[in-house]
Amino acid sequence: MSHLSPLYSTEALHRRVSELAEQLRRDYAGKTPLFLGVLTGSFIFLSDLVRALDLPCQVDFLAVRSYGQKTESSGAPRLVFDTKSPILGRDVILVEDILDSGHTLRYIMDLIRGEKPASVSSCVLLDKPSRRQVPFVADYVGFAIPDVFVVGYGLDYAGDYRALPYVGVLEP
Ligand code: IMP
Ligand code: MG
Repeated sequence: MSHLSPLYSTEALHRRVSELAEQLRRDYAGKTPLFLGVLTGSFIFLSDLVRALDLPCQVDFLAVRSYGQKTESSGAPRLVFDTKSPILGRDVILVEDILDSGHTLRYIMDLIRGEKPASVSSCVLLDKPSRRQVPFVADYVGFAIPDVFVVGYGLDYAGDYRALPYVGVLEP
């Protein structure tokens, strides 16, 4: 049996998401950014973020695969589902549930840059800086956390727990 202990409540998540939205509203004033969510983990964070954002924006998704049924990154992400939106000239904001080794966002960032956006930034709900294997600094971070495995609010373990309305630490 695994044990789940609460880390960020629904209220704490919503408060922090509102702060991030306010920061984005100021930084992107006068622009119509394109939010690119990394499937699947970002879907709840992204939908709360854009609803808290008082700014016109567009939303699209892409998917990469790097994790199987385990808690370690393979370190070799690849694109399995591409965006429908043209990236050329857009102000792109990559949205990810969690930044861990850095392989996923490094890979996606390089792909997006190759399509010549006007700008690209990254926004992650959670960051585990101590786990980095490739250098990556996110522009917007909800919470920095230690090296624990978390689920809920979009984050899964082998497909489970995504719909939990809070973030919890999963202990084996
Ligand atoms: P990275 O390429 O190692 O930075 O991995 C990022 C991806 O790993 C995230 O999009 C998650 O899917 C997954 N991941 C990393 N840590 C966790 C965690 O604590 N819980 C759930 N998924 C995680
Ligand atoms: Mg993910």
